[in-house]
Amino acid sequence: MISLGVGKMGDQQILQVEGLEKSYRIKKDWIRAVRSVSLDLSAGEVLAFLGPNGAGKTTSIKMMAGLVRPDGGKVRILGGDPHREAPVLRHVGAVLEGNRNLYWRLTPEENLEYFGVLRGLSRRVARSRGRELLDRFELSHKRNAVVQQLSRGMQQKVAIAVALVHDPKLILLDEPTLGLDVEATMVVKRLVREIAAEGRGIILTTHQLDVAEELSDRVAIINQGSIVRMARTQDLIAAFSGGLYEVVMEDLPEAIAEKVVALGALVEGNTIRVPETDLLYGVLDIVRPGVILSVSRQQANLTDIFLELVQGDR
Ligand SMILES: Nc1ncnc2c1ncn2[C@@H]1O[C@H](COP(=O)(O)OP(=O)(O)OP(=O)(O)O)[C@@H](O)[C@H]1O
Ligand SMILES: [Mg+2]
Repeated sequence: MISLGVGKMGDQQILQVEGLEKSYRIKKDWIRAVRSVSLDLSAGEVLAFLGPNGAGKTTSIKMMAGLVRPDGGKVRILGGDPHREAPVLRHVGAVLEGNRNLYWRLTPEENLEYFGVLRGLSRRVARSRGRELLDRFELSHKRNAVVQQLSRGMQQKVAIAVALVHDPKLILLDEPTLGLDVEATMVVKRLVREIAAEGRGIILTTHQLDVAEELSDRVAIINQGSIVRMARTQDLIAAFSGGLYEVVMEDLPEAIAEKVVALGALVEGNTIRVPETDLLYGVLDIVRPGVILSVSRQQANLTDIFLELVQGDR
């Protein structure tokens, strides 16, 4: 793997967003696309930015990337304001929604060189970084094919390579796995992990909540322009998993079943559902002479949590 020259990881703050606001006027109505969005991101961290269609994810990301001017609030990237100080944009690499990240009539190599120079690299450095990235992304064999003729997965890899060419610390990925097959999705997931491990901060939007669950250190859930929940991914899953346990018995005689129900558990066949951790030990005491086949904790997943938070908010 090539070294991308990012310094020591740690708690270095890469992005700070405070109170972002954006409204759009559609005919006579105003839509508050983004309402008071605040978040931050440290080096090496992956934040999944989740929300239903129209929630305000892309608008927020474009404001972070310096592409859409906020009506209010502030964005700081390594302390600098991307809306006022052009050099700050050198710290940002973005893969935006849709197909406008690359020149379709140019080859991957030409795209890398073009965007590298645009972001301040010399032609020579842009070319050599481009080659390294094509190598690393296993695209060297396609370096002379025009982007238009590559598969969707390859195009997405080129787009990510282009976002990395100038060695930025902040990477914004808007639906990076959209439309990719299982294998290409796995490749992109691996790349995201590697990019974060190099000490970059990554914000990722996706509608594939399993991808978010696997990749993210934290999640921010946005609905109708506002962040409704932000937490460490594992904490959120633990909080929603609660203390629900399932005890499966080889056999559950009627008399025992009645006792555990009296304690507050539910019985279905030979399975006992225990709604709280506190009850678990009481239940185990009651069933003790019997054969326990399994005791498991019910794990919530990000999909359940997302639906509950977003629908509960409507
Ligand atoms: N340029 C624009 N002009 C007018 N309205 C816009 C514009 N861009 C976004 N909007 C509106 O702002 C709201 C948020 O849109 P945004 O694209 O940020 O959502 P999103 O969370 O990225 O959704 P998706 O998951 O579908 O990509 C929507 O109501 C959208 O119609
Ligand atoms: Mg979007």
